[in-house]
Amino acid sequence: MSDRTIFILGASRGIGLGLAREFLDRGWHVVASERDRSDDLHALESDRLRIVTADVTDPGSYADLAFDDQTLDAIIVNAGITGARHQSAEQATADEVAHVMMTNAFGPTRAAKSLLPKIKDGGTLGFMSSLMGSIADSSGGYELYRTSKVALNMLAKGVAEQDAGPRNIEVLALHPGWVQTDMGGPNATLTIDDSVSGLADVIEAAGKGGFRYVDYSGKELPF
Ligand SMILES: NC(=O)c1ccc[n+]([C@@H]2O[C@H](COP(=O)([O-])OP(=O)(O)OC[C@H]3O[C@@H](n4cnc5c(N)ncnc54)[C@H](OP(=O)(O)O)[C@@H]3O)[C@@H](O)[C@H]2O)c1
Repeated sequence: MSDRTIFILGASRGIGLGLAREFLDRGWHVVASERDRSDDLHALESDRLRIVTADVTDPGSYADLAFDDQTLDAIIVNAGITGARHQSAEQATADEVAHVMMTNAFGPTRAAKSLLPKIKDGGTLGFMSSLMGSIADSSGGYELYRTSKVALNMLAKGVAEQDAGPRNIEVLALHPGWVQTDMGGPNATLTIDDSVSGLADVIEAAGKGGFRYVDYSGKELPF
């Protein structure tokens, strides 16, 4: 059994819920957040699970979460959305741009900076990014979602350089693979179990400081 603790921001369903289950199975203590009640998350039932309420776009919702300083081994900011269905730069309204950017990039960064003092020196801070945030890999399309994840990668690197580095906290921009969730859809190539088991291996092996953009198998991705 592990005495390690992870906070997963955005664990009501999909990959976040899968990560909560995976880390409980691995003996970790898990603090998992929902926005509205998630029956699936509450069904996990473990004395090592604590469920809290948080919205990544609302700093007031996570500012008062009860963690002592340096009690967390890892935080994963998993929350994310696809954004407006049309995904088009030409059609996007200012509100649509703001919504996807706040949810996928600026909100996660703000939450991470606020919660960083709760991570132990030498711990791990993971952002759920996407290969769609790679400029080198891009063939275009999904313009709203892609640009939000590019922004997330840039902001995550900044947190690594300016905030986490001095405390040897490793920052990861993670690509979970194409996963069968509400977001990934039924044709995705990976089950949630396959993705979260790889992601948990990557997170358990991290904590060496620095910054990496990696997928669920630990493979480095091009920016
Ligand atoms: N599935 C894929 O193939 C894939 C590929 C690459 C990257 N990703 C990334 O992986 C992460 C999880 O994706 P998923 O496939 O599991 O998606 P999902 O099934 O749509 O689940 C999204 C999760 O994010 C939460 N969330 C959304 N907005 C939030 C907010 N403002 N505050 C807090 N939580 C919020 C949702 O909570 P509610 O239930 O309250 O809405 C839900 O728990 C995302 O960052 C996504 O971009 C997914």
